[in-house]
Amino acid sequence: MNLTTKPLTEHFGAEILDLDVRKAQDLGGEILRLLLEHQVLVIRNQELSARDFVDFARSLGTIKPFLLSNYHHPEFKEILITSNEKVDGKPLGVARVGNFWHSDSSYIKDPANTTMLYGIKVPPTGGDTLFASTYRAWDELDGGLKVKLHNKMAVHTIRKRYKVTAADVGFSLREIDDQLKVKVPDVEHPVVRPHPLTGRPALYVSEGYTLKINGLDAQENADMLEYLHEYMTSKDKVYAHKWRVGDILLWDNPSLIHAAGPTDPNIPRTMFRITVE
Ligand code: SIN
Repeated sequence: MNLTTKPLTEHFGAEILDLDVRKAQDLGGEILRLLLEHQVLVIRNQELSARDFVDFARSLGTIKPFLLSNYHHPEFKEILITSNEKVDGKPLGVARVGNFWHSDSSYIKDPANTTMLYGIKVPPTGGDTLFASTYRAWDELDGGLKVKLHNKMAVHTIRKRYKVTAADVGFSLREIDDQLKVKVPDVEHPVVRPHPLTGRPALYVSEGYTLKINGLDAQENADMLEYLHEYMTSKDKVYAHKWRVGDILLWDNPSLIHAAGPTDPNIPRTMFRITVE
């Protein structure tokens, strides 16, 4: 079966048209090929149960369940529920996931390539998911900076964004930080990281998880990371996905950074989220 696509932007992203993923179990290879080509894929108008979504994700690869189990789907641990809704006063899912620019789990040695979301409840406005291409960021970077950053390593850490406070867990912030250093130790990745599957170079730093670039002093690091963040996410480089109920949104982490855009906490936004190796 040939899949028909329509571009989302001039530079990256495509919508797959006229596809019911419940009938696409043998199309995993083709969908992955399209994902590597376009970096972001949207498949609209799906009517999926949790099991259907898991089956679709499995057709693309091995599922990596989310590290923390609190908000796994009650029947399918493969699904993380992200939601700002409450049921009987209890949160239905993680209220805010990734509302800062990042590449998923770059704070571990082998981050998963593909993440996908399925829109269950979406606000009429706001709550967009934002994307910027790290291939394009590297391709268009100033030549002098390319020379400076080429062959450098950067430290990525979950600690930059870990939001638990001392009051939540009864430890001091220093103790929380010390525990995280042991449980999720900082890792290094090349600043210019070849995509693990395509080999194409991408600028692999993000506001959310990159702590520092080795070989730069503290001030140079602060200036460089701020510059790269502004450059990579300037308005002309960003695709903002406007959600509709029934959308599946898939993205290729090695060639993108993304962020959950601002949303009204009082208007329900609930998604199923799965990561695939
Ligand atoms: C994420 O970073 O996985 C969340 C994106 C979103 O909810 O829009």
